[in-house]
Amino acid sequence: MRLLIASSNAGKIREIQAILATSDIEVLSYKDVGLAADFDVVETGTTFTDNAWLKASAYAAATGLPVLADDSGLEVEALDGFPGVYSNRWLAGTTSERNQALLAKLSPTDSRNAQFRSVLCLYDPQMKHTQFFEGVIKGSLATAERGSRLEGFGYDPIFIPEGYTQTFAELGVAVKNQISHRRQALLKLNQFLLTNTHPAQPES
Ligand code: IMP
Repeated sequence: MRLLIASSNAGKIREIQAILATSDIEVLSYKDVGLAADFDVVETGTTFTDNAWLKASAYAAATGLPVLADDSGLEVEALDGFPGVYSNRWLAGTTSERNQALLAKLSPTDSRNAQFRSVLCLYDPQMKHTQFFEGVIKGSLATAERGSRLEGFGYDPIFIPEGYTQTFAELGVAVKNQISHRRQALLKLNQFLLTNTHPAQPES
């Protein structure tokens, strides 16, 4: 099966392609189908599910292809789940500035618990079939950015997955891709596709 990734985020596309490399799913990016790199979807939803659907339906409308959208973010316990769906845009500036500003919101006594959540939306415009898959990874926040910016993206330099002492950016994408929220959601997608001979059966 061929699936178009409804994203222009290079980090996400790389991870999804790497995780699905051993599956029967052929992953296409916007480049493969001639969409502009700045083909952007305004994320007006207030939940990961809403925004995943907005992205999936926009890419499907533009191409007619079955698509896979990922809406994801970091949820910090002491901040009641903030920045959540706003992870990419709660503060103008660079990724590093956002990471540091987020850490500055926590007082020394606050819990440092945090988790990444990924919601995937699989949408087949021919069959009008929509299916969602979710993955979560629990962990904690480091006190400063650590690790290579070349490994992973976004909040990876400040997120330490449970059971580890290093951040995702220190662990590197090979380790991250074995355990991440995105990995867990993609495993559910893969399982769904394996158990549905034609993935795009309409819901009964
Ligand atoms: P979206 O395009 O609205 O889904 O934005 C997701 C944002 O959440 C990213 O730009 C990052 O800021 C953050 N995020 C989601 N997943 C990850 C991850 O695996 N590592 C680091 N940051 C992530």
